[in-house]
Formats: sequence, C-alpha cells, structure tokens
Amino acid sequence: MKVTVVGAGNVGATCAQRLVEGNLADVYLVDVVEGLAQGKALDLAQAAPLARHARTIEGGVSYEGAQGSDVVVITAGVARKPGMSRDDLLKINGGIVTEVCENLKAVAPEAMVIMVSNPLDVTTHLAAQVLQAPRERVMGMAGALDTARYQTFIAWEVGCAPYEIEAMVLGGHGDSMVPLPRLTAVNGVPLNELLPPERIEAIVERTRQGGAEIVGYLKTGSAFYAPAAAVADMVAAIACDQHRIIPCSVRLEGEYGLRDVFLGVPCRLGSGGVEEIVEIYLTEEESAAVHAAAEHVARTVAEWEKLAG
Ligand code: LAC
Repeated sequence: MKVTVVGAGNVGATCAQRLVEGNLADVYLVDVVEGLAQGKALDLAQAAPLARHARTIEGGVSYEGAQGSDVVVITAGVARKPGMSRDDLLKINGGIVTEVCENLKAVAPEAMVIMVSNPLDVTTHLAAQVLQAPRERVMGMAGALDTARYQTFIAWEVGCAPYEIEAMVLGGHGDSMVPLPRLTAVNGVPLNELLPPERIEAIVERTRQGGAEIVGYLKTGSAFYAPAAAVADMVAAIACDQHRIIPCSVRLEGEYGLRDVFLGVPCRLGSGGVEEIVEIYLTEEESAAVHAAAEHVARTVAEWEKLAG
C-alpha cells in the first residue's frame, strides 16, 4: 500500500512516521514549503534501521510523487490558536484544501482520501466536490480521534485501560459532536452503572473541548499525536481490509434522515474504503443532536460558498 500525506507539519509528519514504522504503507510526504517534506522524509527514512522496518518514505514539493497512491491523507492548512474555533480556519483552509484536491485529481484520481484539515466536515465536503469521487472514497477523520479522547477520559475515571472502553462519538468535529454514553461500556459493563450522570456529563464536555484543551497548552498549534494515531488506525482498517466499524465523516444519502451533508457516523472500513454506513438506533435526543450537528455543517458549507463566490 502506498499513502501520500499532504502537509509535512506536525500532524502530517507524525502520521507518516506511524504509517511507515507501523509497517502499514510506503509513504510520500508532500508540502508546499521547499525542503520541509524532503527533510522530514529523509530523517524518517534514516530511522528505519532503528525502528526495524523496510518501508520507503520520500518527500517533495511536487504532486508527481503522489502517483500510484492507494490513499491520500490531507493535513494541509493552518491549525487553531487559543480562542479560535475550528470554523475560524475555514477562510484559509477551504482554499488550501481545494487547491490540494485539484492537484491530486491530476495525479491520483482513484485514490481514497482521508481528510484531516479543519473545519473537518466542511473540508471533507469540499474535497468530495473537487474530486467528484464516489462517497466510499472520501472520508474525514474526526470520530476516531474524538472517540479516543472520550475513551481516555473514561479510563482515567474508571481506572482501567483505555482500550477496554467500548464507545463511539458521532456528529460534527466541534461543539456539535455527539458522544453516546448510553452505548458506552467498560468490557461490557454499561458506563451508567459505573459512573454517576454528572461525572459522565463532565467527561462528555471535556471530550467536546478535547482539541481546544490541547491548543490552550500548546498555544502555537494543535494536537498531533492522537490525530496521527487516529489516521493510522483508519489506514490500517483499509490496508488490512479489516471491515472494522470506525466513526468517519462521510456524505449521508438518507441515512439518519439526512442527505447531502458530511457528518460523523459509524462506517465499516475495508479495502473498498467506506464499505457500509452503519445505521444504529438513536433516541430522540441523540437524533436531535445529530441533526443539529448536520445543520451546523450545512450552514458552514453555505458560508464557504459565499466566501468562495
Ligand atoms: C483536534 C484538531 C486536530 O481535535 O481538530 O485536536
């Protein structure tokens, strides 16, 4: 499997590292900044004997190197500064993502795309529009990361290993994300039998603010280790044809009562990309939260369309 990672910043470079060192794929790293992708790729290549893998990693400014990619991970764009919402990035990142996808269309038109740049659900929409790709090939990474944060906070509270938490976070990547405590369990034990409602509510709120909490500490950038790990998990599901259910941002075509909007829902990922959108029963309240998230995304897409003229 060959993966191109667009953007050699913290998320892109860490992603590239996970993919080669996890022996998941050969990687081409591309960045508009002269020397950045080349330098980081060379550094990562020289770690191969120590990390004991035989994957290739190369970097460059040209999209030519993306030819033959099975998957393209798009991390290009700017990150948040303290006090900014993900939507505040739209003006800059909307244009960047559009340009990236125009370049990709010329060299890797058949590749699957995993979007990472924010505002996630909107940039995924833009990528699908520019690439004119079927929906199984264009997905946004958000739910995997938001779920991992939620699992981590629960594990700390309950006192178990994070991977023992069964959970799923749906909706938008932002204030409108929809964690589902009703469906959360610790090795099969329902969460609401282990924690009082106010503790669960606090964890849900911390999850919603999970990205902002890290921006608050870093000040000049946003999270990258967990986002990169979430991308690698999605690539693994595709590369190893695992058919695993991972929440991804995909275009809904009637599922959950929504149409023509990108939103985080449970998806089965395998070598075909998004092989199935899994529709689960939601309570009225959960469904209302998912619909509110969809309205937020649709409004932000409309704002972009106005901006882009
Ligand atoms: C975060 C950014 C990557 O959630 O959206 O940390």
